[in-house]
Amino acid sequence: MSAVLQQPKVTVRPMRDVDVDAVLKIELDMYEFPWTEGILKDCLRVGYCCWVLCEDGGIVAYAVLSIAAGESHLLNVCVSAQCQRRGYGKQLVEHMLDLAKRHDAQVCLLEVRPSNTAAVTLYEKMNFVEVGTRPAYYPAKKGREDALILALELIF
Ligand SMILES: CC(C)(COP(=O)(O)OP(=O)(O)OC[C@H]1O[C@@H](n2cnc3c(N)ncnc32)[C@H](O)[C@@H]1OP(=O)(O)O)[C@@H](O)C(=O)NCCC(=O)NCCS
Repeated sequence: MSAVLQQPKVTVRPMRDVDVDAVLKIELDMYEFPWTEGILKDCLRVGYCCWVLCEDGGIVAYAVLSIAAGESHLLNVCVSAQCQRRGYGKQLVEHMLDLAKRHDAQVCLLEVRPSNTAAVTLYEKMNFVEVGTRPAYYPAKKGREDALILALELIF
C-alpha cells in the first residue's frame, strides 16, 4: 500500500478583524517583543494592507504594509514556527510588493534586527539593500538593538 501525500492548499487573502486572535497567537509565539492585539487592530482600523497566508484554510503567516506618498513600509511579516522554510515568507513579501506597486509606491522600506539572520537573508535574497541604520531602535534583553533600514526600488 502506498500513501498519497497531498500538497496543502495555500491561499493569500486580506486579514479581517476575526483573524486577529489567530494572528496574535503566531505573533506572541514568534517575537520576543511582540505587537499587541491593540496594535494589530489599529493596523486594520487605519487601513494598512494586512494580509494572511493560509494553509488548508488555517492562518500560518501574515504581513502588514503601509503605503503613503509613493513610499511603502513593510511593518511586519511573520510565519508560524512549524511552517517556516516552505517559501511562505517570500511568497507573502512578493505579494505585499505587488500591492505596493499597484498603489504606485516607488520604494519599499523596512527595519530589521541585524541579529535576525532569517529575515535579513530573506530580504537580501529579494534584492533589498541596506540604506541606513536606526540606532537603539529595538528593545533587547540587554538595552537596545539597532535596526538596519533596507530598501527596494519598485520602479525599474
Ligand atoms: C523571516 C521569516 C518571515 C522567513 O519566513 P520563511 O517562510 O521561513 O522563509 P522562506 O521559506 O520564504 O525562505 C526564503 C529564503 O529566506 C532565507 N531564509 C529563511 N529562513 C532562513 C533561516 N532561518 N536561516 C537562513 N536563511 C533563511 C533563505 O534564503 C530562504 O530560501 P531557501 O529556503 O530556499 O534557502 C520567518 O523566519 C519568520 O517569520 N521569522 C519570525 C518573524 C520575523 O522575524 N519577521 C521578520 C521581521 S523584520
